[in-house]
Amino acid sequence: MNELKIGVVGVGGMGNNHIDSTNRCEKTTLAAVCDAKKELADERAEQHGVEAFYDYKEMFESGKTDAVLIAVPHYFHTPIAISALESGIHVLTEKPVAVHKADIERMIAAHEKHPELKFAAMFQMRTMGIWRKVKNLIQNGELGKIKRVNWIITNWYRTQAYYDGGGWRATWKGEGGGVLLNQCPHQLDIFQWLFGMPSKIRAYCALGKYHNIEVEDDVTAFCEYPEGHTGVFITSTGEFPGTNRLEIACDRGRLVVENNSSIKFDRTEIPVQEHIDTCENAFDSPPKWEVDVPPEMEIGESAHQRVIENFADAILDGAELVAPASEGLNSIELSNSMLYSAINNQDVELPLDSSKFESLLNDLIANSTFVKPEEKGLKGDFTASFNK
Ligand SMILES: NC(=O)c1ccc[n+]([C@@H]2O[C@H](COP(=O)([O-])OP(=O)(O)OC[C@H]3O[C@@H](n4cnc5c(N)ncnc54)[C@H](O)[C@@H]3O)[C@@H](O)[C@H]2O)c1
Repeated sequence: MNELKIGVVGVGGMGNNHIDSTNRCEKTTLAAVCDAKKELADERAEQHGVEAFYDYKEMFESGKTDAVLIAVPHYFHTPIAISALESGIHVLTEKPVAVHKADIERMIAAHEKHPELKFAAMFQMRTMGIWRKVKNLIQNGELGKIKRVNWIITNWYRTQAYYDGGGWRATWKGEGGGVLLNQCPHQLDIFQWLFGMPSKIRAYCALGKYHNIEVEDDVTAFCEYPEGHTGVFITSTGEFPGTNRLEIACDRGRLVVENNSSIKFDRTEIPVQEHIDTCENAFDSPPKWEVDVPPEMEIGESAHQRVIENFADAILDGAELVAPASEGLNSIELSNSMLYSAINNQDVELPLDSSKFESLLNDLIANSTFVKPEEKGLKGDFTASFNK
């Protein structure tokens, strides 16, 4: 095989984007599209001269595809990925890999039965030069011991119209969470990719603080790591203009990554701890210099396309996956633990008990009294319910 035949399941917003990326990649070809909305699948199929499917199982059984790219609402990632793996189809799934930890465990178990297949996740931020540089600096020991990490990622501003636009969004039943699950999986993935997993989390999540939604739109989480450092992760969809700033306090000073676009390193001449221990002046501080760190080189047109190219390279040429889907468990564990901590008002020790979170989520779904404006026939006029 020298060209990978990809079927895209879910050809709405992101899926349509992936169709274009698949067409642009040298080693992939769009072989089929599938969407539960028949007209949409037909439209995309006609546009690209491929067959349309309305049921993903039929697409897998058709023999037309070697691999699937899954871009449907999060809950469906699990059954579609499992069905693909059972049908001998390689899988690249959108983020979050699953809604909750028990679901990704099911996906990993299905993959373990088919280790010959590649199972990857669309964590495109891992291919960005800026994040690869930060990872290299940490791995090469340039920062020394990490003391504290703070990520304020509050520039996810969304209006009420956004939440009302996609029927599946921002309910426990339709999406399974809010900003942690929809906007933040990329940052949570990078958070764990750079700093590992905490052993304890305490979080405060406000549900529907700025929007008429039942899920979280404002989060502050405190993490304790077995290596001794601490972390704070703050996010919101209700602040404007918001901030995207990751700050790492380390033994060689402070590194700040801002807006996915700059790395500034205030680097001390000697390790901070050495200065604390040896300096004879009470109010002295270590000499430092300020460095603008250039990112790693980026190859290829877009981050999404790079992940698709890497997926094809892994299948066709045995390349290492940039983001194996199994690693998606960590970002899900972080978001699930933050919600679990906030809703139960308690510290959460990790690893999280996946069955406990699944039953919490099932309770939230069962006890939900939330009705989306469009379900009430109030589309465009939800002031009354917002103020109640
Ligand atoms: N990596 C990224 O940068 C990025 C960006 C946006 C969205 N996403 C992810 O992509 C996924 C889809 O988001 P979106 O914004 O494109 O949503 P969307 O609502 O625009 O599109 C989803 C499509 O899936 C179809 N669908 C739903 N259930 C289906 C099923 N069972 N079988 C076949 N088709 C089905 C819908 O009809 C719709 O056309 C989400 O999981 C989201 O988190 C990722």
